[in-house]
Amino acid sequence: MGYGIRVVLVMNRKGGSGKSTLCRALASAAAVRGETVTIFDTDASKSCLKWMQAGQTAGNWSPLVEVIHTLDAHRVAEAIGQIYEQQDQEHLILIDTFGGGSEAQDVLAVAAHRIICPMMLSRGDLSETLETANWYLKLRGRVEKPDELAGFSVLLNRVPMRVSETERAVAEELFQSLPALETYLGNRAAYVRMDKEGLLGVIADKTLNRALAAHVQSAVKEAGDVLDEIDQLILAPAEVA
Ligand SMILES: Nc1ncnc2c1ncn2[C@@H]1O[C@H](COP(=O)(O)OP(=O)(O)O)[C@@H](O)[C@H]1O
Ligand SMILES: [Mg+2]
Repeated sequence: MGYGIRVVLVMNRKGGSGKSTLCRALASAAAVRGETVTIFDTDASKSCLKWMQAGQTAGNWSPLVEVIHTLDAHRVAEAIGQIYEQQDQEHLILIDTFGGGSEAQDVLAVAAHRIICPMMLSRGDLSETLETANWYLKLRGRVEKPDELAGFSVLLNRVPMRVSETERAVAEELFQSLPALETYLGNRAAYVRMDKEGLLGVIADKTLNRALAAHVQSAVKEAGDVLDEIDQLILAPAEVA
């Protein structure tokens, strides 16, 4: 506990790689820990904003979590500056993007402590992920102090219980090319439910069927493990090669 203010930018050019799902899962895990969470939804489809509205309507929400929609990267940077001035210094800030990896997104990268690029185990996701990493490398070449730029990690998303040969090959190619988190998100019905109904922790508490509730709790645990790993990377970036 006590990670302070962290800004996580979730980015991948690939639509449907799980950017919004990852933001929601991390927000859910942080809320369970009693942390304040702000999601900046910079996608024109308002995916996370609509998620908050659906969650509030369903009663699956927490006052700890707020979603702010804006397409203006400078407004996001400004709002982050205001969060730094607040009393509450335990704050997870997530930035959901529409795809990104364009120069217009550079402002967001500079405001972040870590850039996380979720991808599913497909050839298409891998090639878009490599493109997104390419944008990051070029950005490093553009900024004044590249050492101060947030680090970039891939997160495997929607990993099935049984990984096929093709999926294994994609994963191996990824591990050879880019830094990836050790933790990942599995292919879980609980995330689909979260995407429709609201925060995982609240859904788990309200699910009367014990087996179902246990499934949702497993997703909370899994998302919490991912959040832990990201927090560790933000706290001690120098320890990681
Ligand atoms: N780990 C997962 N398990 C099950 N379904 C998932 C998972 N991650 C994403 N999905 C589903 O995949 C779809 C695309 O995810 P989304 O987060 O909207 O992608 P993006 O924001 O990158 O476009 C959504 O329908 C979402 O519910
Ligand atoms: Mg999205």
